[in-house]
Amino acid sequence: MSSQNLVLIIGGTGAQGNSVVKALVADGKYSCRVLTRSSTSESAKALSSLPGVELFEGDSYHEPTLRQAFSGCTYAFTNTNGFALGEKAEIYWEIRVYELAAEFKVKHFLYAGLIYASKLGNFDPKYRTGYLDGKGKVSDYISAQPTSPMKWSILTSCLYIEGLNELMQPFPRPSEPDTLTTPSTSAGCSTPPLSNGLYLNVATEDISWADLASPFSSITGKKAIYMDVSLDQYFSFPIFPNPEAKVTNEGGNLNDPTLFTIRENFWNSWKDNL
Ligand SMILES: NC(=O)c1ccc[n+]([C@@H]2O[C@H](COP(=O)([O-])OP(=O)(O)OC[C@H]3O[C@@H](n4cnc5c(N)ncnc54)[C@H](OP(=O)(O)O)[C@@H]3O)[C@@H](O)[C@H]2O)c1
Repeated sequence: MSSQNLVLIIGGTGAQGNSVVKALVADGKYSCRVLTRSSTSESAKALSSLPGVELFEGDSYHEPTLRQAFSGCTYAFTNTNGFALGEKAEIYWEIRVYELAAEFKVKHFLYAGLIYASKLGNFDPKYRTGYLDGKGKVSDYISAQPTSPMKWSILTSCLYIEGLNELMQPFPRPSEPDTLTTPSTSAGCSTPPLSNGLYLNVATEDISWADLASPFSSITGKKAIYMDVSLDQYFSFPIFPNPEAKVTNEGGNLNDPTLFTIRENFWNSWKDNL
């Protein structure tokens, strides 16, 4: 594969990176090296069948692997996984990835960021959200870097529209089972940014809470309402088996006091439309 326009993709097998890889190789202008822990996962196999995609098996959070993966790449798109890492490790690894990209003379570094919820909420502790704040802090770090010789762009998305089938799915109202209630909103998906030194805010739809409910009514024929529920009410819906679980899948770190629980990690910035 020519290394002329080779893009290192971190998180390429995931919901966000997957679309980025497909878009980048669609017209043959770029080729992608997708770093993945498993080249036999369904997502990895599907990507590797595309012309211009090569898989690179290894751990994205391991410096020797990153060094090998960056070799020969001229661009990078990186979506570190804050849900897997926790805030502290995500900050470390994404900054390290940025530094390695610069060391390997990448021309343009594209970072998949998220809003800095604490900062947007004037550091009111109720807005602390590990997976948002981690990416927000890294975005602040990157945006303080020079735009030459390595260009950078930050793509700030929000909840994927697919979240309406998952975290934001409507449930029958307990007191009125024929009524669907949808407890939260907002959606985004990504395309690769092209502009140097810019935050690119991306969303599929900007929609009000009430407007989100009405399509459910017209499609299902059932009454649908938006309810401003409390966190306790939200977690009474069968979305998360254990809202007190720590948000990380890095075994052995569960006593890390910087990790957030699911209950702590999500809701107030959405609820208050930060
Ligand atoms: N859910 C949303 O609505 C949303 C919206 C915007 C941003 N985000 C952010 O996107 C990031 C997650 O990306 P995604 O939504 O594309 O996730 P995803 O669909 O769950 O995919 C997870 C990605 O992370 C990679 N990964 C590397 N090491 C991992 C590990 N130890 N454990 C789990 N996965 C690991 C996976 O690669 P392999 O399995 O191939 O190694 C895969 O590419 C998070 O930081 C999240 O905050 C999420």
